[in-house]
Amino acid sequence: MKELIEKIITRKSYYDIIGGGALSKNNEDFFKEKKQWSIIKDQLLGCYLKPYFSKILATQKPIFYVDAFAGKGRFEDGNAGSPIIALNIISESLQRTKFNQSDVELCLIELNHANALRNNVKHFKNVAIVEGKYEDNIERLLVGKKMQNVFLYIDPYGVKVLDFSIFEKISEINLYSIEMLINFNSFGFIREACNAMNTQFDAVILEDLVGVDNLNVNNLKSIQDLNKVAGGTYWQAIIEEYKNKTIDGYEAEKKFSEQYCKNLKEHFKYVLNMPIRLQKGQRPKYRMIHATNHAQGCALMNDNMYKRWEALQTIQNHGQISMFTEDIENISVNKEELQKEILEIMKLHKEYIDIDIFLAEFISKYGVRVSTSDICKELDKLCNDNNIEVVRNPKFTPKGKISKFWTVSKGHSVKVRCT
Ligand SMILES: C[S@@+](CC[C@H](N)C(=O)[O-])C[C@H]1O[C@@H](n2cnc3c(N)ncnc32)[C@H](O)[C@@H]1O
Repeated sequence: MKELIEKIITRKSYYDIIGGGALSKNNEDFFKEKKQWSIIKDQLLGCYLKPYFSKILATQKPIFYVDAFAGKGRFEDGNAGSPIIALNIISESLQRTKFNQSDVELCLIELNHANALRNNVKHFKNVAIVEGKYEDNIERLLVGKKMQNVFLYIDPYGVKVLDFSIFEKISEINLYSIEMLINFNSFGFIREACNAMNTQFDAVILEDLVGVDNLNVNNLKSIQDLNKVAGGTYWQAIIEEYKNKTIDGYEAEKKFSEQYCKNLKEHFKYVLNMPIRLQKGQRPKYRMIHATNHAQGCALMNDNMYKRWEALQTIQNHGQISMFTEDIENISVNKEELQKEILEIMKLHKEYIDIDIFLAEFISKYGVRVSTSDICKELDKLCNDNNIEVVRNPKFTPKGKISKFWTVSKGHSVKVRCT
């Protein structure tokens, strides 16, 4: 009985969350200490930003970096939050780059902790802090950024503020490049979707849902709010399937996330997503979604997610190295199938295509399963078996040997096609 009451009280706190980004009881403690979930999330961001800035500075176009849910800048235990992680990487990159005219602007949007944030980043130059809501400010901030490189980090507590139409509008701006990294609480969405459609959601899965939203359950408004977040009504059929027990809660979340990413692909060329779970079979705490029109960015993010995934697998296997190759959804990867899949993508093109575009198309279709260097090993085999043709420029190394590189850089290009 005591346990039941405790469960009801814990459940009630989910519903205490007030809409519009105000703090919930669950979120009040967020900045006390940095949890393992946040560490993984920040590693994904930080390890990506290093190669991102070194590549993007070479475009010699202005860079506009936005942390749209910036938080306090620093956790109370002293750990850096996402703004300080980015600021440190930007200043290191600017010190290293040979492009000394580089123009990098950083903007931090924060609704509840703007003062703490201001205080924590006061030692950094060229930082603009916008005190307010992401959804009210982002379009205005992007006006005048045409032909610039824009990176948008989106790390809200829940999904409610993620109006899909904002992403659509961003994709229509003529930017030099756009990259978005989104922390997407897909289970939070499914929970709300079940509430809105009068469906009981699995109590076991519900445990420990931090940062979920309360969207005025069981009324038309909540259905409309969920349509706005999902960018369509497709989620309703998924909840129906769940209600009819054709699929379970985990499958519902996966199906919904896949469909959501497909929706993003209508507006951004390459979309990747990575579930973050600390134990096999557990529901993902959240999904990190990367959307971009930049082929090299997609390949870079694949390798970054793959490395984080290897580290996560060691945590999931309690320090033991796994005998099997599994993808980020814990599904085994059949390496024999890889070559077949590579040829399928390549056959979509009649002419030679740049290796970066091929890699981004392959990864975006099949998801994060292997590193790009593993894909290139399969390309080597396919080339040796005369299944594909590879054209490299320069064809020969300075020592007169045939070039074998796969990495594109200034003065080095690789194109591929099926024979
Ligand atoms: C998950 S935390 C961000 C943590 C941060 N990325 C870090 O690593 O330190 C979400 C932040 O978004 C803020 N927030 C909530 N609603 C918001 C909104 N609509 N627009 C902007 N910020 C919002 C919260 O106050 C909170 O600081």
